[in-house]
Amino acid sequence: MKVTVSRKAHFNAAHRLYRKDWNFEKNDEIFGKCNNPNFHGHNYELIASVTGLIDKETGYVMDMKVLKDIIKTEVEDAFDHKNLNLEVPEFKDLNPTAENIVVVIYNKIKSKLDSTLKLEITLYETPRNFVSYSGE
Ligand code: NI
Repeated sequence: MKVTVSRKAHFNAAHRLYRKDWNFEKNDEIFGKCNNPNFHGHNYELIASVTGLIDKETGYVMDMKVLKDIIKTEVEDAFDHKNLNLEVPEFKDLNPTAENIVVVIYNKIKSKLDSTLKLEITLYETPRNFVSYSGE
């Protein structure tokens, strides 16, 4: 019997979407306002969903306190109130689009989970724009 348990989290972060190897005009054409050299912020919302078997002894798929702590360490402490381009090493050479951010978050959390558990991350960049990734 496989069950999915989910936890929501939140962080604020600034970013700028651009490629160093494109000139400003090309970046402006592709990324529009998101290429603002002065950066801009988002209130990111995150849902981490873990799917696995219910442990017969505990009745848990995983201890939600453990999931909470992993999200705090790997995502909130690492990204909250940061400039993703300038302060988060994963985005030094990776455009911090919602798509790339969700993959980075997935990889960070997945590495801390029991390998039998399946993970899916959904990341809201705005209330209406969201992306998800489950490692495929
Ligand atoms: Ni943006």
